[in-house]
Amino acid sequence: MMNSSFDLKNIFSSLSTALDFTYSGLSSHHKRVALMSLKLARRMGLPQDRIKNLFISAIIHDIGAVSMREKEILGELEILDPYAHSEMGYQMVKNVKFLEPVSCFVRSHHDAWRGDNPSGLRGDRIPLESRIINAVDRLDVLINRRQNILEQPQKILRRLKSIAGTIIDPDIMVELADLAGAEGFWLDLEYGSLSDLLCAQTEDFEISIENNMLLDVSLLFSGVIDKKSIFTHRHSRLVAASAFKIAGISGFSVEDSQKMLVAGLLHDLGKLGVPEKILEKPDRLSPEEFRLIKRHTYYTHRILDKIKGFEEINRWASFHHERMDGAGYPFRLKAESIPIPSRLMAVADVFSALAENRPYRRGLPGNKLMGILDEMTGSALDPQAVKVLKDNYSSFEELLENEDPLSQPLA
Ligand SMILES: [Fe+2]
Ligand SMILES: [Fe+2]
Ligand SMILES: [Fe+2]
Repeated sequence: MMNSSFDLKNIFSSLSTALDFTYSGLSSHHKRVALMSLKLARRMGLPQDRIKNLFISAIIHDIGAVSMREKEILGELEILDPYAHSEMGYQMVKNVKFLEPVSCFVRSHHDAWRGDNPSGLRGDRIPLESRIINAVDRLDVLINRRQNILEQPQKILRRLKSIAGTIIDPDIMVELADLAGAEGFWLDLEYGSLSDLLCAQTEDFEISIENNMLLDVSLLFSGVIDKKSIFTHRHSRLVAASAFKIAGISGFSVEDSQKMLVAGLLHDLGKLGVPEKILEKPDRLSPEEFRLIKRHTYYTHRILDKIKGFEEINRWASFHHERMDGAGYPFRLKAESIPIPSRLMAVADVFSALAENRPYRRGLPGNKLMGILDEMTGSALDPQAVKVLKDNYSSFEELLENEDPLSQPLA
């Protein structure tokens, strides 16, 4: 796979943005937790290889909290059930081979110091990395975004100290209180460009990307996207598999076909910014709801835009609702500005969406599906791109038969 040129720190930091959509907008929770974790770890003298893994686990620690509803609950100081999303995140991360070593840090990031955790761990048997994330995570939820941050340290530290020894590690509390004595520590948390601060904080190490790591990370995030709704439980995988097949038929190079696969997996990344009740709505969307849906490709574009080396993948992924007649969203691009792979992706997306069940209808059979494709050809979809699908329809139907459409391409 097109390795080497990518920087995993950059990829994780950008993709984490997608995990931080809330009802009130972007929260940057993962970036703040990663930033504070690194500062704390350096202060405590953690060796660099551990700092790397701490960074990765901190920047995705809440990956198991998929819906906005779930994320909202995590904003409370004492969460009723902090373990569901930790266990879910653990399962998701453990599935990715190269992330196996950090999966237990994700699992234990809410483990209480006093014990009684599903992991069975207590006290200093809980991984230090998890204890660090737990402490700074609790600090982050105590910040009142509507109040001057420099008015808050005393109150926040007092509350944190009240759970030291029960929820959080008392020794880490001491270190954190010292660190938080500096105004700069707090001002960093509300600074506009957290990505820059994170870059500076991770400057002295590289996490190089090898073999299939880019694909693995894309699979991990596509899992989060698809979990948003039971109706889309395999949508990203089906679009990716279809796009990969289309690329193969169209004579793309191996490298470009793999880019199509990654672009397919991430094309709906921005859906994490759309409340799930809209994605699950059983009847027609109101104009206002449709406008909310339209944000998703914009978000996909902005998030992927921050990843060096993703220029093509970004266009192929985030232009999938642009139309040949220029009436698509979010950029209303004219046909000549829509690259061929993006047009193919649009066809892969329409095919997948029509073949899948939706809250308001069952998946469509081949003849009906092709009828709709015909209607969309020319105005919305590129005739050449539709032809690739129709001429090879039976091989696309095969993808629908597998519970996992990617089992073939990934074999
Ligand atoms: Fe959490
Ligand atoms: Fe968190
Ligand atoms: Fe979409």
